[in-house]
Amino acid sequence: MFAGFDYGTSNCSIGVWQNGAVRLLPVEGRNSLIASTLYAPKPDLELNHRDDVLDMSTQSFDALKFGNDALQAYLRDPTQGYFVKSPKSFLGAKGLNERIKDRFISVVAAMMGNVKRNAESHLDQAIDQVIIGRPVNFQGTGGAAENQQALQMLVAAAHEAGFADVAFLFEPMAAAMEYEASLESEEKILVVDIGGGTTDCSFVLIGPSRREVKNRDADILGHAGERQGGNDYDQALALHSVMPTFGFGDHLKSGLPIPNTYFVDAVSTNDVNAQQRYFSRTTGERLDVFVREGVHPRRIARLARLREVRSTYRLLNEVERAKVNLSEHETAAVGLGFLNEAVEVVCDRKGFGRSTTRLLDRLSDLISETLKQGQTRPDVVYLTGGMAGAPVVRQHLEKVFGRLPLTDSDHFGSVTTGLTIWARNQFT
Ligand SMILES: Nc1ncnc2c1ncn2[C@@H]1O[C@H](COP(=O)(O)OP(=O)(O)OP(=O)(O)O)[C@@H](O)[C@H]1O
Ligand SMILES: [Mg+2]
Repeated sequence: MFAGFDYGTSNCSIGVWQNGAVRLLPVEGRNSLIASTLYAPKPDLELNHRDDVLDMSTQSFDALKFGNDALQAYLRDPTQGYFVKSPKSFLGAKGLNERIKDRFISVVAAMMGNVKRNAESHLDQAIDQVIIGRPVNFQGTGGAAENQQALQMLVAAAHEAGFADVAFLFEPMAAAMEYEASLESEEKILVVDIGGGTTDCSFVLIGPSRREVKNRDADILGHAGERQGGNDYDQALALHSVMPTFGFGDHLKSGLPIPNTYFVDAVSTNDVNAQQRYFSRTTGERLDVFVREGVHPRRIARLARLREVRSTYRLLNEVERAKVNLSEHETAAVGLGFLNEAVEVVCDRKGFGRSTTRLLDRLSDLISETLKQGQTRPDVVYLTGGMAGAPVVRQHLEKVFGRLPLTDSDHFGSVTTGLTIWARNQFT
């Protein structure tokens, strides 16, 4: 049996072809999405060496938790287990040695295996062939070596998870195919997919006569993408709206500023090196000095406490929730109860908007790059990915595209649906 598998930075989902249509299978309870998180119960938290990626060979599959269960286990006590979020973000990192790559592969394989098992519990046969979505670029533009490394790791993980045949499709291409399935005439579509970890654009020629074609390379008019997504918007909001409560921008009594790097490292949860620096003993000692010598010791003491209770993911989880709430409300609060403080930091849309300037500029660049390759105007712009739901992003896109019509997909299901359509094309 074949499937389309979106191994997303934030969420995973899987679809099969049943009764002439795509069916997205339940993978967490009745939900067809599961967060890309894993929790291993044994403490393995000496993050002082670059080599410290969870060693799955010491874990039993039954003891692992995934998705929301993993998050809840971590939130109960961040110091008693190993929490992994968005491992897809690390697959294209430079300088990974073979041992670390193997460890990442096993982590990804465990997550894929969990999705496979849960999906198969709703089927009467095993899934053995799969099309997995891939971003246009796992890191920056032109990162051919990084892309190759990430794809090799994903193939190895998928095999370890029990998929025999594995092939890839660009994630925005998949969304284009989902749109194409209901199309009655030919169109030039620009897909903009802003997910948790990457932003991807594909400019594609689509139409009913092209659906059965086995190689669609000639239909790609342009594409661009890079490692920038919802996680980066979370970090921008955390740094600009929340970190001032932790001393960001403060000075010492001597008049010297407290260096920004400590705050940037604290919020950079998708940067292994930054997190290692933040949790290092040297940082602990520096923060103690800043608490003694700072103009606002209570603020910098929060940064020290955050480090002591190893709660950077927890903070970012709260900030992500606030970011999502800002899509509906003018303000959203980030509670600091997990630091034993009855303090709430209130974020607002204006502040969020200011923090995203660099990210939105980069988004415009990617779109321009894609359109330039196509040398023509798209008939429609198709938006997908969770971040397409943020008003700050939408307003920016409306500005960028002017009068071009923007159409929305199911932001969380279009890629998986398209991957499944392509799986049917390729495996039958
Ligand atoms: N209503 C919302 N408003 C703003 N952001 C949202 C909303 N809902 C989800 N998000 C954000 O969307 C992102 C997840 O999107 P999505 O599920 O498309 O990512 P993904 O497919 O797992 O990642 P990628 O495609 O980059 O690998 C997260 O950063 C999440 O916070
Ligand atoms: Mg995605």
